[in-house]
This record gives sequence, structure tokens and C-alpha cells, in this order.
Amino acid sequence: MKLWGGRFKDKESKLMEDFNSSLSFDKELYEYDIKGSIAHVKMLAKCNILTECERDKIIDGLESILKDINEGQLLIEGDYEDIHSFVEMNLISRIGDVGKKLHTARSRNDQVAVDFRLYAKDRAKEIIEEIEDLMNVIVKLGEENNVIMPGYTHLQRAQVVTFKYHIMAYHSMLLRDKKRMINALDIMDESPLGCCALAGTTYDTDRNFTAKELGFKKPVDNFLDGVSDRDFALEVLGASSIIMMHLSRLSEEIILWSSKEFDFVLISDEFSTGSSIMPQKKNPDAAELVRGKTGRVYGDLIALLTTMKGIPLAYNKDMQEDKERFFDGVNTVLSCLKIMKGMLSTLKVKSENTKKAVKKGFLNATEGADYLVTKGIPFRDAHRIIGEIVLHCEGAGKGIEELSLEELQKFSPVFIEDVYEFIDYENTLNRGIKKEIIK
Ligand code: ARG
Repeated sequence: MKLWGGRFKDKESKLMEDFNSSLSFDKELYEYDIKGSIAHVKMLAKCNILTECERDKIIDGLESILKDINEGQLLIEGDYEDIHSFVEMNLISRIGDVGKKLHTARSRNDQVAVDFRLYAKDRAKEIIEEIEDLMNVIVKLGEENNVIMPGYTHLQRAQVVTFKYHIMAYHSMLLRDKKRMINALDIMDESPLGCCALAGTTYDTDRNFTAKELGFKKPVDNFLDGVSDRDFALEVLGASSIIMMHLSRLSEEIILWSSKEFDFVLISDEFSTGSSIMPQKKNPDAAELVRGKTGRVYGDLIALLTTMKGIPLAYNKDMQEDKERFFDGVNTVLSCLKIMKGMLSTLKVKSENTKKAVKKGFLNATEGADYLVTKGIPFRDAHRIIGEIVLHCEGAGKGIEELSLEELQKFSPVFIEDVYEFIDYENTLNRGIKKEIIK
């Protein structure tokens, strides 16, 4: 069932009909399609293109369709070309010929563009809310675990930090993610409705009215761009890809930390799974899936970028490929944000183990060098002296702080009793700009 056909002699092949149809996935847009149509009809009446009576009949018809879909009375299925055809043909069968006036001064090109933007705005807002929730969970987890742990570079123990400070790095990442998503929301906040197929319409329509009615800041500036721009979807997928990259890094850490090798955290049973053969196993599947799904969201972004790259102005059917990738990308990032929130809000930090790991790693070596500098030794020499001490300690199986003053003085005569206080692990965080770590 189609909205066109007048200029065709022969029937479309079934193969082509199926190939062309987007109903199976663009049905997701039904609410936005109906909302967009209601705004359009109001505008048509305001501009005296439809009578008030026609407007009211069409709006009643559209609202009854929305209600029936929401209540499960009307299933979105059948051999319709897309959600726009589905709604319009259902409208005509409900209210008769007046329903045929709905599409005056509109094309499916501006219709799908406005539906899709409305959908994208709502999903972007949901993502922002999920980011905020996750940020709050991170603050709480950090506050409850203000304990020392090793900080790493090259995945080698490097210097002392705290669990709180480490996890708050992800808070900083998420704050940028939030700003990126807010920016995407801001840029997409323009209505393409009224651009029509590509070049506007001979009717005196009012794009400002529909833009306002649908909650957009303003109408788009250019008709050709309005119907063929999908930057807004790319921006949400781009920002989502960066979110996923952050979640994936965090997942990787949780996976490492929950292994016996690190043993820094315990993932709750709620967010772990078992093995069908090895009874002792408790696997970090939630974190692994988030890490795995990251590739999927990147794929959605790259697929849509690639679809868009060679399209001449204005609308081309290639763009129908935008929806599945976008739906998949936003649904994936939303579910990953929720899972991460659940996993972190039930995560236990094994502070005894994070402390023990600090003691084993010469994590006060840099501070040892700083100590020598306070005694007048140039940093490069101090670095060498501490390096020699570490080498000695490795052989002796001791930490720097476990050497006696006499032993230390063999490496440099400037060591005195205050060195122990200076290189104490917790004290290292009390000095200089490092105080920010425990602020
Ligand atoms: N299903 C189409 C899409 O998603 C709707 C727009 C169709 N426009 C057209 N000129 N055939 O892109």
C-alpha cells in the first residue's frame, strides 16, 4: 500500500517493495510522526490552507491512531512503505477524504527529517540523564573509598594515588561527555519541517509556527540542507562513541581489578555471571559486554558517516539507512550507562589490598628523589641515587622505607631521620600540589 502510483503503469515487484520498506524499523518513530503531523495541520489551518473543521477532524484522527497504537489496539505492520505511509493511510481510512489533505505543503523528506530530529533530541536528553546518574554514583563510590592505591603508567605501579582520585578521573571524562551531548542537542535544535521535498512550497506556510509548536529553537536556514542533513545523528553517535570509549576503559580496569592478580574490587553477584563448567568462576561479564559493545557503537558511527559521504543534495534514499544504525547506537549507549551505574553502585573496594599493593611497588621512589632535592641535590643526580637504592632493595626484598639510615647514607650522606616521614606513602599525598589528590 503506497502513497504514490499515479504515474506508474506496472506494479512494483515484491522484491523491490520489501527492499524499499522501512516500516519494520521506522515504526519506532510513530509518536514523533504523529506529533509532527499535528503541528503541521495546526499551521495549515492558521495559514488558511485548511479550515478549522478540517484541522480538528485530522487532529482527532491522528490522536485516535496514537492512542490505539499506545494501547496495543493498532499494530504497526502490513505492507506499508514506511511509518509515514502507515499513519497517513490509517488516517484516511478512519476519517475519509479529509485525511488526504494532511500532506498538503509537506513531503516525506521534511517529515522524516523532523521526526528523526525529535526522536534524536529525546534520546540525547535521556543519555544526558544517564550520564548524570552515573557521575553521582562515581562520586559516592569515591567518597566511600578514599583509600590509597597504586597509580599506574604502562600498567606498572608508578605513584601513590587514592581510589577516589582514580575513579574521579572517569567523572571528569563523563562531564565532558555530558557537555558534548548538550552541544549536540543545541546544534540539532532547528526544525526542518516546511522545507518540503527540497525547495519549499508555493503555499504561504509558517515554519516559525511549527518550529515553536514542536519545541525547536528555530526553523533551519536552508531547505536543501534541512531535508538532507543528518549531522545531528552523527553528532549523537560521535558523542556516544566517546562515551563508550570511556566506559570501555573503565570496564577494562574493573575486569583487571576483579581478577585474583589485582584483587582490588569485588563485583556484586547481581552484575556477575558464572561458568557452565568451572564451578569456582565468577566472571565480570557486564564489564566485558560494555567493552565489547563499544566496537558496535563505533561501527554505527562509521556506517552512517560512510552512508552520508557521497550523497549529493538534497534527499536521497541512501539516507533511510540512518535509522537502524542510530537506534542501535543510542540504545546500546543507554543500556551500557545503566549497567555501569548498577555495577558501580554495588562494587566493593578491597582497601586492604589496594594499600598492600602500594607497599609493594616502590611507589615512594619519586618522592625519595624529591627529598634529596630538598637537601640540595640536583634532580637528575637524585633520580640516579634513588634508582640505585631501588636496585639494592629489589635484591634485598625490602621497601625503601625499610632500609636503615646507615644503609641509606651509603647511597648519599644527605639522608637524615626526616626521610622516613617524607616518603611515608600517605604523607606523600600531604605535600605540594599532590594535596589535590586527597582534597
Ligand atoms: N522512509 C524514508 C526514509 O526513511 C522516508 C522518506 C522518503 N522520501 C522519499 N522521497 N521517498 O528516508
